[in-house]
Amino acid sequence: MIEAISLHKRFGPVQALRDVSFGVAQGEVAAFLGPNGAGKTTCMRILTGFLPASAGRAVVAGFDVAAQSRAARAALGYLPESVPLPGDMRVREYLDFRARIKRVAVRQRRRRIATVVERCGLETMKARLVGRLSKGYRQRVGLADALVADPPVLIFDEPTVGLDPNQTVEVRRLIAELGAERTVLLSTHILSEAEAISGRIIIIHHGRILIEDTPAGLQRRVHAHRPIRVEIAGAAAPACRAALAELTGVRRVAAADDAGSHGGEWHGLAVHHDTETDLREAIFALARERGWRLRELHREDLSLEQIFRAVTGADAGKGGADA
Ligand SMILES: Nc1ncnc2c1ncn2[C@@H]1O[C@H](COP(=O)(O)OP(=O)(O)OP(=O)(O)O)[C@@H](O)[C@H]1O
Ligand SMILES: [Mg+2]
Repeated sequence: MIEAISLHKRFGPVQALRDVSFGVAQGEVAAFLGPNGAGKTTCMRILTGFLPASAGRAVVAGFDVAAQSRAARAALGYLPESVPLPGDMRVREYLDFRARIKRVAVRQRRRRIATVVERCGLETMKARLVGRLSKGYRQRVGLADALVADPPVLIFDEPTVGLDPNQTVEVRRLIAELGAERTVLLSTHILSEAEAISGRIIIIHHGRILIEDTPAGLQRRVHAHRPIRVEIAGAAAPACRAALAELTGVRRVAAADDAGSHGGEWHGLAVHHDTETDLREAIFALARERGWRLRELHREDLSLEQIFRAVTGADAGKGGADA
């Protein structure tokens, strides 16, 4: 497994990590979620032994990353943020070279390479020069490299960046599969991605862990901050607005601020509330009772910034408990 114990990292005046502690168990996929500059890559570089921590300790598969770096590195597969690839090697040749460096036994090498080529969708690219691959394929080669020695611990820095939608789905599925038996830590700045692939989300912001929770737990915390979007046919809009404002838990009903929802036949409304009850059913019941024509009724997703505000601002008392 992976253990980060009070990690600090300073780059000159920049405090990139402050007291970062967490663990990832075997059979678990955890996601680092945070905006640009949050400290995700820095933390992963420390965990993989590429960067020394200013203070604190990192343990991978039972080995101290600083004191037993060779053993720790042998137990992990790392997909770095930007994969440095030699231009003049062919994909298969490169993976063979990496497998040798990682001391994959001669007898297993061919089979391991065939396996990762297949799993990472590189079949048609095997004979291509690595330097001429598109961004998405370079990313897949990076993944194949991380997997080639079949390590028990995997650290993927933004594994789906640059992939097309189909391949993104494939890679997410692959990660879920890997996570069944291994220990996986990945980073992303997309909330829905973290929710889709990981069992636990670690939100990091300005080098600090803000929150650590399951996707469901996180949803519960931010639930009351997700406005409900209602789109309703013209004439009923004013009456609808007034009626929605009367519902229990509703704070305010505003015109939706997205384009295309003003004027014309349809009106977009954003129902802001502070209740954990799902108001959609009550809204639907009201619409049926009053004969309003609805064409949309859903809970808005929150952006990362809105989530930070939700967990640090209005909800600070609640969020602080397990942060
Ligand atoms: N080698 C370095 N020298 C100086 N500052 C650095 C170095 N590496 C990272 N930083 C700084 O540390 C902070 C965290 O950067 P880091 O790359 O870890 O963020 P990140 O969460 O991975 O962001 P992104 O989503 O953009 O990849 C940033 O302020 C960055 O500028
Ligand atoms: Mg990064």
